[in-house]
Amino acid sequence: MSEAATFIHRFSPAGQAGHPPLLLLHGTGGNENDLLPIGGMIAPGAALLSPRGKVSEGGMPRFFRRLAEGVFDHEDVERRAHELADFVVAARAEYGIEAPVAIGFSNGANIAAALLYLRPEVLAGAILFRAMVPLPSSPVQDLAGKPVLITSGAADPIIPAANAAELAGTLRTAGANLRHEVLPTGHGLVRNDVDLAKEWLGDAFSNA
Ligand code: MLT
Repeated sequence: MSEAATFIHRFSPAGQAGHPPLLLLHGTGGNENDLLPIGGMIAPGAALLSPRGKVSEGGMPRFFRRLAEGVFDHEDVERRAHELADFVVAARAEYGIEAPVAIGFSNGANIAAALLYLRPEVLAGAILFRAMVPLPSSPVQDLAGKPVLITSGAADPIIPAANAAELAGTLRTAGANLRHEVLPTGHGLVRNDVDLAKEWLGDAFSNA
């Protein structure tokens, strides 16, 4: 692999048909192993593509630079989103997989949201756990009914409710087939996220 090798990553081929491949995007301080079990719970047997973010914040991997918590370096967000999109294109060719559904948590959800803004064609859909508005601009393309699930935490200390609602509204206005659920929880993932994601993926991609 040439270009795809520019991200450290794990790839696990599909064990059974019926689910789209998943692009797994970890949170700050995570790595390519973090979301593999959750991917397996949400879509048993799906192909899993899981890169490690290339930005280091004090040794913690991330997918783009931030200036402070919740304050993003937008130039870096754009550059890194294109880099990740190019990786997805190269990995699809290398591994022979369809366009994936992104599943991102926190920083991983934010780079997935940036992909929807800038390179939506690389994703079949997206599940965004605890996502924020990634960029001040609007999506550059009509999202043309792309299925997107956002789950937020009502007591999330990092993401203001209005910010998550703005992201949902922006994606919906851009044409996404969007579902936004606010769960009675904080920033961390809970069982309800996984159950909702599994049900939503089954409904949205039942013919995959
Ligand atoms: C981010 O930096 O993407 C968000 O603040 C979430 C986080 O990773 O803490």
